[in-house]
Amino acid sequence: MLPFYEVGGVGQVFVPTQFRDFAPDDVRIKFFTNHDLERPNRIFSHIKRGGVAALSGDSDLISNTVEFINRKKDELVKPSPNQERKGRKRDFKSSDRPRAEKKQSSPLLKLMILVDASGLLQVEPTSDLPYLLELIGENPEANQDCPFLIPVPALKKIQDSLQQPYETDALEKSLVVSENVLPPQSKDTIHLFQQGFWCVKDSLPMEAAVLDLGCGSGILSILAAHRLAGCKPRVLASDILPEAIATTRINLYRFNLYGAQVEVTRAGDLFEPIGNQKFDLIVFNAPWVVARCRSRAEIAIHDENQNTVRRFLAQTQDYLTSCGQVLLGYADHSGQKMITNLETMFETHGFLIQDVFRKRVPTHRSKKKWENITVYRLCGS
Ligand SMILES: C[S@@+](CC[C@H](N)C(=O)[O-])C[C@H]1O[C@@H](n2cnc3c(N)ncnc32)[C@H](O)[C@@H]1O
Repeated sequence: MLPFYEVGGVGQVFVPTQFRDFAPDDVRIKFFTNHDLERPNRIFSHIKRGGVAALSGDSDLISNTVEFINRKKDELVKPSPNQERKGRKRDFKSSDRPRAEKKQSSPLLKLMILVDASGLLQVEPTSDLPYLLELIGENPEANQDCPFLIPVPALKKIQDSLQQPYETDALEKSLVVSENVLPPQSKDTIHLFQQGFWCVKDSLPMEAAVLDLGCGSGILSILAAHRLAGCKPRVLASDILPEAIATTRINLYRFNLYGAQVEVTRAGDLFEPIGNQKFDLIVFNAPWVVARCRSRAEIAIHDENQNTVRRFLAQTQDYLTSCGQVLLGYADHSGQKMITNLETMFETHGFLIQDVFRKRVPTHRSKKKWENITVYRLCGS
C-alpha cells in the first residue's frame, strides 16, 4: 500500500504504517477545515461513502464533529454478513468468512487529524505534543517532509497515556510512557540496577561512555546520569521502537538531562544506530519472556528463542572498551533452562560474571507465583 496520498487543498499527505488499513490505496481522503466542521453531516456523508476525513481547525469544532460521528456510528458500520443474510438462504459456512469481515473497525478511525510536516497538530489552539511521528511508531524522516495524518482515537490514546505519571522511589520526579513502551513499574528491577551502578561506579573512568540499550522509558539512562554523577558520564540511549525513543526524550526533558548528559539515537535494532563508538558500560534490561511477539507492546518483554539477548551478547564485545563492563537484567519467567542457556551464552561470547544482584519477587505474568529478577555484572574474559 502507498504511504502518500494526494489530498485536495493540502497536497501530498503521509499516512503512517499502522493506520494504512483504514486508508486503502483507492480511498478518497478529503480535507475539512473550519467552515466544513460547522456542517458535520457532510463529513458523515463522506465517511459513509467510504472516504477518510482529514480534519484541521478549531478544537471545539473538531470535538463536536467527533461526537456527531460517534452518535451516528451505527449507521456507518456495514451490516455484518450475519445481519445481511438474515432471511436469506445460507450459502456458505460462517468459518469460510474472511477474518476482516468478522471484526469491524470503529468509523472514528476514518476521522484523522492533520499534522504539519514539522509535527505540529493543525488544531487551534494547538497543543504541544513533540515527537508525534515517533510516538506513532515511525522514524522522523518517514513523512519525507510532508504533512501526515493520525486518527482521532490513536491521538487520544497517546495524549491519555502521556498524562499518566509513574512514580518511582529512586527518582524525585515521575516519568511518563507512551503506547507500546514498558512503564517503569518494577521497583525491584530499578533497585537491582541501582546496586549495579553503585558497584561499577568506582571502576569507571571520568566521563565514562555509557550505553543504555533498549532504553524504553529512559529510566536507566536517568538513573545512570544520577547514580554515576561522580564520573560525569556521557550516556547514550537507544531502542528499536521509535515510541521508546520519543518517550525517553520526553522524560529526559522532564529531568533536564536531554542533550547535556544524555543523548538519544534514532530507533534501530541493537547496535545498528550506534556507529563505531565504544563504551565503558553497556546497560541492557533485556526482554525476558521467551515467546513470540504478537504485538508491538510485546517487543519490550518477549524474545522468541532468546534471539535478541543472544544477538546482543554476540555483538557486545565489539562495542566495549578494553575494561568495559555490562549490566544485564533478566528474569527466570520462562524457567531455569532459559537461565542456563543465558549463562552458557555468556561463556560462549567471552564474558565472566563478576557480580549477581538478584531478588525473588511475586509475579502476575504467568501461572508461577514467584520469579527471580537478576542483574548480572559482566566483564570481558
Ligand atoms: C525490558 S524492556 C526495558 C526498558 C527499560 N530499559 C526499562 O528498564 O524499563 C526492553 C527494551 O528493549 C527494547 N528492545 C527489544 N528488542 C530490541 C532490539 N532488537 N534492539 C533494541 N532495543 C530492543 C524494547 O523496545 C524495550 O524498550
